Amino acid sequence: MYSVEILLLATAATTLASLQRAETHASYTPNNLTVAFCCEVLELAGLGDLILYPGAESYDERVGSYWSEAAQLTPTCFVQPRDAVEVAQVVSTLVESNNTYPCKFAVRSAGHTTWAGSNNIEDGVTIDLGLINNTIYYAENSTAGVGPGARWLGVYKTLDALNIAAAGGRAGTVGVVLSSGAIVDANNETNPDLFRALKGGNNNFGIVTRFDLEVFETTLLWGGVVVYPNDTTPAQLQALKNFCDKIESNPYGSAIGIWQFTSQTDATIIINAYDYTAAVERPAVYDEFLAIPGNISDSLRITNMSDLTQELEQAAGYRDSFFTLTFKNDIRMYEKAIQMHNSYVELIKASEAAGNWTLQDMFQPLPAIFAKHSVEMGGNMLGLDRFDENLVLWQTYLAWQAPDQDDLFHSFGDAFIAELKDYAISIGADNPFIYLDYAYKTQDPLASYGKENYDHIKAMAEKYDPLGVFQTMVPGGFKISKAGEPIK
Ligand SMILES: Cc1cc2nc3c(=O)[nH]c(=O)nc-3n(C[C@H](O)[C@H](O)[C@H](O)COP(=O)(O)OP(=O)(O)OC[C@H]3O[C@@H](n4cnc5c(N)ncnc54)[C@H](O)[C@@H]3O)c2cc1C
Ligand SMILES: *[C@@H]1O[C@H](CO)[C@@H](O)[C@H](O)[C@H]1NC(C)=O
Ligand SMILES: *[C@@H]1O[C@H](CO)[C@@H](O)[C@H](O)[C@H]1NC(C)=O
Ligand SMILES: *[C@@H]1O[C@H](CO)[C@@H](O)[C@H](O)[C@H]1NC(C)=O
Ligand SMILES: *[C@@H]1O[C@H](CO)[C@@H](O)[C@H](O)[C@H]1NC(C)=O
Ligand SMILES: *[C@@H]1O[C@H](CO)[C@@H](O)[C@H](O)[C@H]1NC(C)=O
Ligand SMILES: *[C@@H]1O[C@H](CO)[C@@H](O)[C@H](O)[C@H]1NC(C)=O
Ligand SMILES: *[C@@H]1O[C@H](CO)[C@@H](O)[C@H](O)[C@H]1NC(C)=O
Ligand SMILES: *[C@@H]1O[C@H](CO)[C@@H](O)[C@H](O)[C@H]1NC(C)=O
Ligand SMILES: *[C@@H]1O[C@H](CO)[C@@H](O)[C@H](O)[C@H]1NC(C)=O
Repeated sequence: MYSVEILLLATAATTLASLQRAETHASYTPNNLTVAFCCEVLELAGLGDLILYPGAESYDERVGSYWSEAAQLTPTCFVQPRDAVEVAQVVSTLVESNNTYPCKFAVRSAGHTTWAGSNNIEDGVTIDLGLINNTIYYAENSTAGVGPGARWLGVYKTLDALNIAAAGGRAGTVGVVLSSGAIVDANNETNPDLFRALKGGNNNFGIVTRFDLEVFETTLLWGGVVVYPNDTTPAQLQALKNFCDKIESNPYGSAIGIWQFTSQTDATIIINAYDYTAAVERPAVYDEFLAIPGNISDSLRITNMSDLTQELEQAAGYRDSFFTLTFKNDIRMYEKAIQMHNSYVELIKASEAAGNWTLQDMFQPLPAIFAKHSVEMGGNMLGLDRFDENLVLWQTYLAWQAPDQDDLFHSFGDAFIAELKDYAISIGADNPFIYLDYAYKTQDPLASYGKENYDHIKAMAEKYDPLGVFQTMVPGGFKISKAGEPIK
């Protein structure tokens, strides 16, 4: 990421004018003000064309577009701005209305965060950025401007056709709307302090309206998915552990290992996903994986980025939750996590779990070289540069069907991470990092970034959102004002 465009709060004069407008809105008296007022002030501000109300087919479509059914809350209305200026108008209007009624709002881009309330709201307005989803390539500076509502598949399809690619982690310019209604750029020269904070700091500062990604020329890639039976587990764990240690000298390669149990098949399978960013068949760095016999299916091939991405789609239509931990790249942690996968399959089977369900456990290498590259690119908030050893990022993922079993499945996830964390501590293989994108709401990613980064996020939230709009009016997401004591 090169830079971002972001929205700040409106100036005091504008705020006052709209406040008076809202207060004199004839159809409300102090006695009958309700949350419906929050949508009506948006209508009054001339934004009626952007609003979707319950009962409309388009409203139901947007509710249903949240990937996890658990996140499909029903806001008082959705508002769908088409550009940064409209985002600014929506935010200013809602902030101004606070003087009359305590309007709450949510911010949603692709709506993939699984837990309820992170990106949506009951009794409030959801600002849905889904229409700001374009990808524009600028040859003059090798940059692609990407809207926050874009999906990676759409981005890759656009770029594949031009024989270029972008890596999510290398974004460098971001457009952001702040709670003042101001639209500002953040990059390594303009608002560099905000830019750094945005890389990992979640929605504590403003609303990002454009990401500028650095692109690079690419030919085709090698990769795909190889599926194996459960009984190859010991060899897979060792190959994954060793692969993580090899990344520093093999920067083109990546590998992810997924253990997936589904109640429909009553079996655990192992899904290995490989991507090698050069058109080379079976590169040597994968030899240890490729020597494991007995695969069930193998799609390895040379192809483009969008084709590879499409293959990793996960089934929608469930209630889902992710939980995450990070550990040292120690084989005992891999073994323990999969022993626990097996025992939790039995525990869930023995519970009142109804309908179809899935338990999936995933390992992603997080070698020390990643943090070094991030620092070279200007740094971020994750704090991984505090550690000089190879790490592994672990995710446990539960999917189920019954709305009245949310608590049951969340309790399995919470218990799983607590037990695995205790084991990691007991053998000295623990690491405090919590990857925000995979964290459940009971986890504390911002505190896991370390004191220096925690302090920076706090300072930037105060500097760019002095009224605390994103702390009090936007309850969803990981809030710096609610984070625990930062971990050293
Ligand atoms: C099937 C699936 C596959 C996944 N694969 C990966 C993967 O390969 N790698 C990975 O890292 N993660 C992955 N994830 C996790 C996913 O990346 C995160 O959930 C994702 O980054 C969320 O982006 P989103 O646009 O969907 O955000 P949303 O869920 O819409 O929002 C997330 C949070 O950010 C806030 N927010 C949203 N837009 C803005 C904005 N424009 N400005 C400020 N704040 C905003 C929201 O209020 C919310 O708190 C996956 C998730 C799913 C469901
Ligand atoms: C609020 O009450 C006033 C006075 O009784 C009435 O005119 C108005 O229509 C009501 N507004 C709403 C939104 O119910
Ligand atoms: C952007 O969103 C619109 C409306 O949902 C959709 O029709 C269009 O296909 C999307 N564009 C891309 C590139 O995904
Ligand atoms: C790249 O060029 C485009 C078009 O001139 C411009 O809008 C954008 O801000 C530039 N991006 C960067 C990162 O310089
Ligand atoms: C990417 O590869 C797929 C599968 O081979 C193909 O259908 C598609 O046209 C390719 N896209 C581009 C832009 O080359
Ligand atoms: C900012 O980033 C650009 C693009 O990566 C780079 O060319 C420039 O040297 C950087 N400037 C500073 C001050 O780091
Ligand atoms: C997978 O294999 C392990 C032994 O390695 C076993 O304990 C477990 O029950 C198996 N899982 C399934 C779903 O068969
Ligand atoms: C998967 O099995 C098939 C059939 O035995 C074999 O041809 C292929 O090479 C195997 N793939 C891998 C990645 O080992
Ligand atoms: C569970 O999955 C099976 C097989 O896909 C399907 O036939 C069945 O209808 C599903 N059960 C429920 C409750 O949805
Ligand atoms: C909203 O109003 C409440 C109550 O008057 C006040 O405490 C809070 O500071 C206001 N928030 C903003 C962002 O103005």
